[in-house]
Amino acid sequence: MSSMTKLNYHSKLRTLFRKKLLKWYDRYGRDSLPWKVRDIYKIWISEIMLQQTQVKTVIPYYKNFITKYPNLKKLSAASLDEIMELWSGLGFYRRAENIHKSLRKIENDFDGNFPETYDDILSLPGIGRTTASAILTFSGKGHRSILDGNVKRFLSRAFKIRDNNMNALWELSEDLLPEKRADDFIQAYMDYGSLVCKKSKPLCYECPINTICMSYPYTPSNNNLVKKTRPVKKEIWALVIINRNKDIYLEKISYDNLWKGLYSSPIFHNKSDLLKWASSFKLNKSLNSVTWKFSHNLSHIKFTFNVMVCDIKYHKKISLSVDNWYNLSSIDFGIPKYQTTIFNKYKE
Ligand code: ADE
Repeated sequence: MSSMTKLNYHSKLRTLFRKKLLKWYDRYGRDSLPWKVRDIYKIWISEIMLQQTQVKTVIPYYKNFITKYPNLKKLSAASLDEIMELWSGLGFYRRAENIHKSLRKIENDFDGNFPETYDDILSLPGIGRTTASAILTFSGKGHRSILDGNVKRFLSRAFKIRDNNMNALWELSEDLLPEKRADDFIQAYMDYGSLVCKKSKPLCYECPINTICMSYPYTPSNNNLVKKTRPVKKEIWALVIINRNKDIYLEKISYDNLWKGLYSSPIFHNKSDLLKWASSFKLNKSLNSVTWKFSHNLSHIKFTFNVMVCDIKYHKKISLSVDNWYNLSSIDFGIPKYQTTIFNKYKE
């Protein structure tokens, strides 16, 4: 605890902090979340979904996922496409890929049982210290602390530690964790950071910990103010190809972009690439002249989609693969959100 001594941290303060945080949690914490169950498999799925995604967005996806795959055994037979289907629209699809990879590792290294020690959980793809701790602690298999963005902000303010001093923050986070109610405590950490000790407008005057907070009242300085980076603007050209049976041509995205592993109409960076591709398959004659436009916004990128439609009357002349045609009513794999927009426009 050498760095803590330097930070003027002592056990009375620790006891007080724990008490105040748990008291707040008992009154205001989010204790009715659907993944508040002692089932390590379900907790795993929820924690992977909650990486980079907000609670309210995750809830319906989590419920859907657990309905389809209520346990590890059921999930272990799932293909990546089937997992991607349930992940469609949630974003950061690498997470679904990591779940699929984890299934093989669980089979090979852990006899088909979800691992129950910190190091084993940490060895699964896509799991870092915080996620491993959350899975272990929420499932009651051990107690370890966490340091996600919310906790980092909260502790760095309360104990005046620079928010890039990860060693000191981890040490502090671990040291504050009580043995009893460790699960409630880490949930309280997360909830406090997102509900009270908020990024840009922290509720300092209502904060029950303000009497021991070393930054109270906290005013985000220019350095600490959340810099709103303007989203990057990008254009995408998509080619919707439909055949006589009204089946649509889709390709699985195999290169490393935001939608890797999902099925999409062919997409391009610009119109001339689209036209070149279309002509290489002798599609130009069937191209409609009208282009649909719509925007698709992510937190950091503003996409403008330009969609061209190609109705193929006779399949014979073109050389597109015969295996890539799908009926809209029987899509059972992952598609990007923009593709759903395209389908809806097409149905109109
Ligand atoms: N973020 C990551 N895990 C979480 C959880 N269990 N509850 C709320 N937000 C979270």
